[in-house]
Parts: sequence; structure tokens; C-alpha cells
Amino acid sequence: MLVRTNAGPKVMNRLGSGESPFVPTRFALRPQSRTLGALVEGVDLCRPCEPALHAELASALREWKVLFFRDQHLTAQEQGSFVAQWGDLTDDQLTGGVPSPNPADNVVVFTRDAQTVGLENGWHSDGTFRPMPTMGTMLQAIEVPEVGGDTVFADMAAAYDNLPDDTRNFLEGRTARHDWSLGAYAAKYGADLARLQAEVPPIRHPVVVRHPVTDRPTLFVNRMFTASIDGLTPDESDELLDRLCRQADLPEVQCRFHWEPGSVAFWDNIAVQHYGVNDYYPERRVMARATYFSREHDALVAW
Ligand code: SIN
Repeated sequence: MLVRTNAGPKVMNRLGSGESPFVPTRFALRPQSRTLGALVEGVDLCRPCEPALHAELASALREWKVLFFRDQHLTAQEQGSFVAQWGDLTDDQLTGGVPSPNPADNVVVFTRDAQTVGLENGWHSDGTFRPMPTMGTMLQAIEVPEVGGDTVFADMAAAYDNLPDDTRNFLEGRTARHDWSLGAYAAKYGADLARLQAEVPPIRHPVVVRHPVTDRPTLFVNRMFTASIDGLTPDESDELLDRLCRQADLPEVQCRFHWEPGSVAFWDNIAVQHYGVNDYYPERRVMARATYFSREHDALVAW
């Protein structure tokens, strides 16, 4: 079915109603788009992050959802130690082993080249197939292609704000099934697929969650891991899911980041989805990722 979108202004709320913009004193913030993404200037992430700086970065992250930094060149120890201050560091493997007490061991370096094809070019939040998905991710560029390899982020509170009223009403109380073993991600596991599917079975989240930090209604379905919406026929579920997932395609809710070696993106994984643009194959792209779980929340609740 051809879907035409309405031209004209969009709802562009960066903050929840009644909230005031945060004004940092320890760094400068350069907005990269209207509702999400700000470049942080004047912070050296290699140095220990003292509580006052951490508090300001937390306020900036709450408001902008993705923070960008340039020229950081963090070691795995420095990257892991920074992220460990935000929650429980995890190497985010499919079947959870016990994370190493050494922060550096939980930083995952992944290389994409002619042999290892990148599969990051689908809209998703990390680990939505878990009862409580990871709360945030820090990605650092180690080696970048000459051209391309950007990452695009989509603000899922803004995505919700731009749904028609009747759709929002229809979504109230609805849940969706999330399954890691859909599409390309499953192919990676070959002969182990059935065993892993039993070990990490599908789970359910509200379609619209109350963001654990901001309390904002946030659309929480994605093309990579959301299998279906409960209580609908397969066709109805596919149609609605497709329509909801398409909200991330709205350029107005997006922010695109161009990487340089040493660039860092630190994002709120519940507030945004991301898409690693794969326009660089067969060139080489090497990234280092550290993720953390919330210490305060063990499930997402409905809006
Ligand atoms: C990811 O999908 O987790 C990473 C995104 C990227 O490599 O740009």
C-alpha cells in the first residue's frame, strides 16, 4: 500500500512539557538537530569524570538523547570506566555471561571489511529482546572509511508526538513481541540458532513506554527485533508495525553523525533508535562499543 505522508510542520518537542532547557557550566553544547543530538565541547573523556561533570552530562543526555564528542581516542580501559559510571557495564552478548570486573574486557571492538559485512543498517535499539534492554551505549570510531559509514539516530519521543491522535489512542495498553532471531541477525548463529532461541525466547514490551528517566511517552518498536503487535491478526499487526516503524524514517526526528577517528557517540538506548549506514563496503570500519544496564529499572512500563 502506498503511504503518503503529510507535508508541513512537525511537532518538534525536545523536552517534555513544563521542562526547561539545561544550561551547562562545564562544557559547551552545540545542537546537531532540533530535538536530538548535541556536540559536547570542552570535555576530555580520558580523564576521570568527577561527580559534578557526570551530573551535567546526565542532564545534557536527558535533554539531547545523544551526545557527540570529537578527538577522544579512548583506550578500552578509559571507555569502559566512563560507561561503568552510568550503570552496570555489559559486553551485551546474546546469552549473558558474567561481565568481567575489568571495564576494558566489556568493550567490544568490531571490524567491518570485505570479509565481515556490517549488519547495522536497520533501525533498532540495542537488545530490545531483553526484559530490560540496555540503557545506553557509547560507540567510538577507531578506523573510518574514507567516505560514508555515518550513524543516524531517531528520536522516538518525537516519533510518538507526530502520530495521529487516533493511532495514539489505538496504541494505549498495547504490547509487542520482541525476538532477536528475526532477519539477518539470526543468520549469524547458524547451527546454534535453535538452541539459542530456546535460551533467549521472545519477550513483550509496551508499544509505547514511559521513558525511565524523562517520563516521556516513547514509541518502542523497531524493524530489527519487533516481531508483532499482540491482539491483532498477522496482517493487521504487520500493517500497524510497518506504519509505526516508518516514524523513524521522518527526517525531522533524525540526526546524522559523521565519524572521524576518536569520535564518540553516547546515546540513550530507550529514547532513540540508531541505524549504521552501510555505504562503505568493502572498506574498513572499526568501532569500539561499551553498553550498560540500568541499576534502577528491570522492566519498561507502559505510558
Ligand atoms: C550498532 O548498530 O550497534 C552500531 C551502529 C554503528 O556501527 O554505526
